Amino acid sequence: MTKTLLILAHPHLQKSIRNKLIAEELATENNLEIRDLTALYPTYNINVAEEQKKLVEADVIVFQYPLYWYNVPPILKLWIDEVFTYGFAFGKGNYQLEGKKIVVSCTIGSNEDIYPAEKLEKIFFPLQGLANYCKMDYLAEIVSFGEVYVPGESKTGLENSAKKHAEKLRHFLRSVT
Ligand SMILES: Cc1cc2nc3c(=O)[nH]c(=O)nc-3n(C[C@H](O)[C@H](O)[C@H](O)COP(=O)(O)O)c2cc1C
Repeated sequence: MTKTLLILAHPHLQKSIRNKLIAEELATENNLEIRDLTALYPTYNINVAEEQKKLVEADVIVFQYPLYWYNVPPILKLWIDEVFTYGFAFGKGNYQLEGKKIVVSCTIGSNEDIYPAEKLEKIFFPLQGLANYCKMDYLAEIVSFGEVYVPGESKTGLENSAKKHAEKLRHFLRSVT
């Protein structure tokens, strides 16, 4: 049975509309475990051995996060830096994550029209590079766009966008697992 690990990286999940909803929608999938990094590591003190064990046990790894200044949120960057170590993820002939699949699932605040393909390619290049360096199989990005939420305004549009995103991700994961 294929195991999927969804790495949820949102610094303020209680304020989140889209990532929270996507995680809730995916939570009922079989053989999918969600690791909410902010809840697990509120002081950013990552348990590297535990995270490496979870990665070794998984077949598919999903990075679920909101785009922050064209990048991943700091907890995800720290998690990658600390967990993908020399001798574990790469180097010394040790590529313990070799062949595992990576899926990037990212919510973007702005409208699609200001994110042409060339720009998206640059945004996801570091994660593609990570996969490549560790001999992993980078499958795809699932991306959704929107408007930055203005407090007091209706959330329906963003919620619908998140539901569509979750459906696309669910469908994609079922096709590869
Ligand atoms: C610190 C910060 C940086 C952001 N940077 C970007 C950005 O570079 N591009 C963009 O389109 N949206 C940006 N946004 C908007 C978020 O991507 C958007 O609010 C988020 O994906 C919505 O997901 P959520 O409801 O789960 O928080 C940023 C938001 C914050 C708080």
